[in-house]
Amino acid sequence: MSHEVVEKNIGLMMVFIVIVVSFGGLAEIVPLFFLKDTTQPVEGLKPLTALQQEGRDVYVKNGCYLCHSQMIRPFRAETQRYGHYSVAGEFVYDHPFQWGSKRTGPDLARVGGRYSDDWHRVHLRNPRDVVPESNMPGFPWMAETMIDETQTPLKLKTLRTLGVPYTDADIAGASAAVKGKSQEDALVAYLQSLGTVIKTKR
Ligand code: HEC
Repeated sequence: MSHEVVEKNIGLMMVFIVIVVSFGGLAEIVPLFFLKDTTQPVEGLKPLTALQQEGRDVYVKNGCYLCHSQMIRPFRAETQRYGHYSVAGEFVYDHPFQWGSKRTGPDLARVGGRYSDDWHRVHLRNPRDVVPESNMPGFPWMAETMIDETQTPLKLKTLRTLGVPYTDADIAGASAAVKGKSQEDALVAYLQSLGTVIKTKR
């Protein structure tokens, strides 16, 4: 009887369908908010320095994420190529995440320390100078474009409201830390920081 009532009332049926379907989602999503693994920073994780944070903005602004992911999946083919798979605790200070899945170029989650700063500078200006077969575009203007240091303290402050543990001293020193630095300086500093908290042998 009651079954018939539900089947003949599409509004009521929709309500029940939503309830049933959300159980699957809730069962998967809710526990993540309480798992330490997904909410706590990995040991030794520090917020990006002011310069690295500006570099991250250069990265986002120039759409590097359109060709590069920052997440190593837990498969052998990936860990042999890139190093230890990514863990959630590495990204708790990342707002927003740069995980992505589009890989025209290699994953960059652990590119920090893989090349010298000079390699990155040459590569960013014209990738073909170091990787002849590369189809990555060059970003030569970054070397001459300066960071606007007046915005940096505001950026760190905003991130602090999102839970990134910047100190008052970090914020007070932010402008001085990036003054006179180019976008390229900042971007290289950011790239060199990526994935370095978890030590991997490669
Ligand atoms: C149109 C796609 C594309 C865009 C956009 C792009 N890249 Fe790349 N990138 C590639 C490709 C393809 C490679 C592999 C060839 C090479 O090393 O140049 C690469 C390689 C790299 C590497 C070397 C990685 C390694 O492990 O060898 C770095 C670092 C890098 N890109 C950084 C960046 C940054 C930073 C930006 C944004 C300013 C960017 N890329 C934008 C396609 C792209």
